[in-house]
Amino acid sequence: MDFGQLQSRIRALLKERRAILLVHYYQRPEIQEIADILGDSLALSIEAARTDAEVIVFAGVHFMAESASILSPDKTVLLPRPDAGCPLADMIDIERLEKARREHPGATVVTYVNSTAAVKSCSDFCCTSANARQVVASIEGAGEILMVPDGNLARWVAGSTDRKIIPWEGYCPVHHRLDTETVLRVRDRFPKARFAAHPECRAAVLALADYVGSTSGILKYAASCDSEELIVGTEEGILTQLKKENPGKVFISAAEDFVCEDMKKITLEDIYRTLEQMKPIVKVPDGVRIAARKALDRMIAVS
Ligand code: 13P
Ligand code: SF4
Repeated sequence: MDFGQLQSRIRALLKERRAILLVHYYQRPEIQEIADILGDSLALSIEAARTDAEVIVFAGVHFMAESASILSPDKTVLLPRPDAGCPLADMIDIERLEKARREHPGATVVTYVNSTAAVKSCSDFCCTSANARQVVASIEGAGEILMVPDGNLARWVAGSTDRKIIPWEGYCPVHHRLDTETVLRVRDRFPKARFAAHPECRAAVLALADYVGSTSGILKYAASCDSEELIVGTEEGILTQLKKENPGKVFISAAEDFVCEDMKKITLEDIYRTLEQMKPIVKVPDGVRIAARKALDRMIAVS
């Protein structure tokens, strides 16, 4: 079957199963095209919490499907490739988090959604890159804030607050790979272009950026900035939507290999098979879910 046939069959099966297809901006273009909701991790979490569909098919990575299961426990959450993980999420576990909590008694734990459900269940707040600064600003008191697992995001947030932020030293291998030499080389080739970067990039890279924000933030910036050219410091999947929304502008990936292999694991065939077989299901057990939900709800409340 070609893409077009698969896309129509998937849309028909989604209807039959009373299912909704949530798709992250880093997914393959042919999957983005048939999304019910295409968004960043924040928008997709919010949609997972409020949809009245019976089934959620998540075209994203494992932690995103887990968040959907935490927020919509009565729905069936399907992840077409259960091996689509996030190496950043795996850079912390509950044992190491509990140890860090003991070392910083009284610290508030703010956990990036790119984390396992178990880690969320031991956290006070969750955040995404779209709301991390607002979440931290909403925390009352003057105590320390332990931010896990992304050190680059934590350091970026630290630049916006007087609170003491303790960063966990995890990183996204895809964003952390981008270095200043590469960015400067691209800037030399496109001297009129602006540069927008995701806060998972290193601090030295962010220092070169005209704009720093989540994938949805970069989309808004691209539409509003006066430049016709934008160098994009995040996973290349976002270029599909950037080009669609801004047909007259030129978008240049900051690096040639800006690809998250986990995000790209899911294919149209995987989605079709998943809907036919109604598996693999991602289900967070209640013991973990209830505590993890509290941290996610606190995040959604400030978004
Ligand atoms: P967003 O929160 O911008 O969607 O990013 C998610 C992610 O995994 C970034 O690498
Ligand atoms: Fe995880 Fe990085 Fe891939 Fe995002 S881009 S899903 S943080 S590995």
